[in-house]
Amino acid sequence: MTISLSEDERALVDRFEQAGQGHVFRFLDRLDAAGREALFRQTEEIDLTRVAELAATAGAPPRAPGNLEPATVLRPDELPGDELREARERGEDLLARGTVAALLVAGGQATRLGYDGPKGAYPLGPVSGRTLFEWFAGRLRALADRHGRPVPLYVMTSEATHEATVEYFRSRDWLGLGEEGVKLFRQGMAPALDDDGRLLLESPGRVFVAPNGHGGVFEALQEHGILDELDARGLAEIFYFQVDNALVRIADPVFLGLHHGAAAGMSTKVVEKTDPAEKVGVVVRRDGHLEVVEYSELSEAQMEERGPDGRLRYGAGNIAIHAIRTDFARRVAEGGELPFHCARKAVPHVDADGAPVRPASPNATKFERFVFDALPLTESSVTLAVRREEEFAPVKNAEGSDSPETARAALTNRARRWCEEAGLSVGLHGEGVAFDLELDPEFVLDAADVRRRLRQASP
Ligand code: UD1
Repeated sequence: MTISLSEDERALVDRFEQAGQGHVFRFLDRLDAAGREALFRQTEEIDLTRVAELAATAGAPPRAPGNLEPATVLRPDELPGDELREARERGEDLLARGTVAALLVAGGQATRLGYDGPKGAYPLGPVSGRTLFEWFAGRLRALADRHGRPVPLYVMTSEATHEATVEYFRSRDWLGLGEEGVKLFRQGMAPALDDDGRLLLESPGRVFVAPNGHGGVFEALQEHGILDELDARGLAEIFYFQVDNALVRIADPVFLGLHHGAAAGMSTKVVEKTDPAEKVGVVVRRDGHLEVVEYSELSEAQMEERGPDGRLRYGAGNIAIHAIRTDFARRVAEGGELPFHCARKAVPHVDADGAPVRPASPNATKFERFVFDALPLTESSVTLAVRREEEFAPVKNAEGSDSPETARAALTNRARRWCEEAGLSVGLHGEGVAFDLELDPEFVLDAADVRRRLRQASP
């Protein structure tokens, strides 16, 4: 069968052929009109110059290790009391002036968790079964109540999670945040390349693409007009967090205040890594520039090395919470300089006959940008150490470490500690818990709130 192509379609096919990617159209004659239309629409969006750059990246040798030094980390218990108070007040002032937006990245596919839906819809409340999205929304409602101004929520989704996430929020009346209080936008996608630098077809009528990494957030904020919107709404600071952290203290005023006080472009929260083998990235200085290195990039000796205080020398564990100034985000987006990281993966595709192939071992390279690669671009930055048990309980795996079970236990333990600090004995001692405990995130924002609520209950 011969297919007649329009001039534009012919030009598109020619461009792909010249770039050595003409094979993506090899099944055109097997597709119906709608299938062809969909393939043309998809391929029109593929930037062939970028594909060539990605192919060069995949073939490049790994970067030199450089000269690593630990980052300077602020520890709240080592800060003078008045500095801490000043930071808190500064952060509270930012919130009271309505200058802070929350930015949630939720475009990942939750493959390790094995959950069939957006990760944020995963039920996690130890008692209530509240989902991660409900935890976040409860805290945002409480912040609006406490400071008198809302913290609007921006959620980055991807092709993989967008529809289901929109449906989740819509069908639950935007979780009480108002439709204007939540904005969902899609991140970009990136292709995978085989060992010859060729695009893969996931089906005869579709090129394989995957979310381009959380570092795609800068480009996506710009492309969807959100940076302009943030400016127009006076939202000068962005509190960035990941969908998988059940303990995240969204828009924590101390962090925002320290970041703002240092006129920082981008700041990071870290927890002290105690187990050298823990799989978190660490904030370091490489050749003088602040950076996150992934655990896989550190040598065994570097992972184990300790300073004179007995702490791991490279122990500032990245918990993927950042404060980002809106104008810095714009600078990063406009610069378009964040590198792509390569990962070898087994990518299902169709072969030259159109038959499906499910490779058992890696057959292609996927490309992702990482948000923390913007850190070296900021002149000033705060790296704030926080207590793991108060702020970091990621849900990554279905079982074992970093699973729903460990996150629920962390929520229960934190609730117990907050109650006990307020003088309310809940009859639990030590780390092992006998029953589940949960504090409504809208009712109590922090330990001090438990005391306040108790006073209200018995004046
Ligand atoms: C990440 C960090 C690691 C940090 C750890 C803390 C990287 C490479 N590493 O690890 O330094 O210590 O979190 O928990 O990020 N996402 C998108 N779009 C994408 C990919 C991911 O929005 O294209 C979102 C996910 O929905 C999730 C977050 O980014 O909210 C983290 O992604 P994930 O790939 O699970 O990060 P980790 O490898 O676990």
